[in-house]
Amino acid sequence: MTDIHPAPDHAVPPACPAHDKAVALAGLEYQQTPSELYRGLRAEHGAVAPVLLDGSIPAWLVLGYAEVSYVTSHDELFARDSRRWNQWDAIPPDWPLLPYVGYQPSVLFTEGEEHRRRAGVISQALAGVDQFELARDCRQLADHLIASFAGSGRAELMRDYAHALPMRAAVRMCGMPHGGDETRQLVEDLRVSLDAAEGDDPVAAYARVGERIHRLVRHKRERPGPDVTSRMLTHPAGLTDEEIVQDLISVIAAAQQPTANWIGNTLRLLLTDERFALNVSGGRLSVGEALNEVLWLDTPTQNFIGRWAVNDTQLGGRQIRAGDCLVLGLAAANTDPQLWPEAHVGAENSAHLSFSNGEHRCPYPAPLLADVMARTAVETLLERLPDLVLAVEPDELTWRPSIWMRGLTALPALFTPVVP
Ligand code: HEM
Repeated sequence: MTDIHPAPDHAVPPACPAHDKAVALAGLEYQQTPSELYRGLRAEHGAVAPVLLDGSIPAWLVLGYAEVSYVTSHDELFARDSRRWNQWDAIPPDWPLLPYVGYQPSVLFTEGEEHRRRAGVISQALAGVDQFELARDCRQLADHLIASFAGSGRAELMRDYAHALPMRAAVRMCGMPHGGDETRQLVEDLRVSLDAAEGDDPVAAYARVGERIHRLVRHKRERPGPDVTSRMLTHPAGLTDEEIVQDLISVIAAAQQPTANWIGNTLRLLLTDERFALNVSGGRLSVGEALNEVLWLDTPTQNFIGRWAVNDTQLGGRQIRAGDCLVLGLAAANTDPQLWPEAHVGAENSAHLSFSNGEHRCPYPAPLLADVMARTAVETLLERLPDLVLAVEPDELTWRPSIWMRGLTALPALFTPVVP
């Protein structure tokens, strides 16, 4: 973890009166039924609501589709470097959201020309991934994972499948020697670093992720190969090893966690919604439609922290002070009634904000690679285990406590055992 400096000329502002009514973005209601919380916040506060992050730290949740689009396309007003935050004096060193909010010298927090340089290297390194090869790799990985539980007639699909597959695919893409324990530990550390759950140490977990990526970069300097890491190392932009480590952590965390939850949320939809009537061959909607519907209605990266106001400004009728934190409410924005005036929320196109928007959006071609992983994972599972059903009632499923991620803690399923 790199050091975090409060912006020198921004003192903690006097208490904001709007935050007297702020709601914590945590707790059971948030965890189980965030869409109701967003609806309530929108009804009470409009498109920009005062909220409290862990430890009662004030921030703004941007709930409106137009407002999220505006914030993400005006970097000169709402910028990415979190050192601007006027709350750093109130934040303890073990604050659970620190791993992805505390400034790091990574692509995530760079701005302007420097951001274009770093994001350009990532985009070009990802563009070297052959999507047909990735689909073939994912199918192999899927078959291998399914074989490990197919004979038993039951599986916990989040742990045994949805998290494991994109992690292994990402690790392969980046040229990491893939082995059981190393990969499993990386998945576990990424989960802990994003969940900020009671009893976990997200800061230490994030540091362990960094150590693993350091080892990978050292290894690839000595033995480059046809992988994302080596393409970043040999890119003419000449990134330093430290910059590459930082950016690879962003790539691997960004690839694994949302893609895993995209797979999990899609499987849940397919297993619980009669329009998809498993087996899928009998359903009226396709896997592709289910994947797209999830991006609109149950998106994996439900909130993203965030942007920081460069100057005093206004947004959605709110007075925003320089250094205030804005949380991008991507899930809330996708279901904004301004967008769906007839109270019908559908999934006819892909104009959702699930990959965010603007300069810092999920970089091309990452959404396409995520689509290959998620589609192959879901289709292969349904082909191999066509009578898959949920092992519990739908309302017994529970959600992770993460502010960032909308993902199930577990997805237990049953099927007729398949003997190899
Ligand atoms: C192969 C899989 C993926 C890779 C390699 C990837 C990579 C990245 C990277 C490197 C960033 C940082 C961009 C920057 O700050 O300039 C990013 C941001 C982001 N990604 Fe992805 N991503 C993947 C999949 C996904 C999926 C499945 C989702 C959600 C459905 C997603 C949603 C986002 C969001 C919301 C951001 C934040 C953008 C912002 O700050 O506005 N990503 N991704």
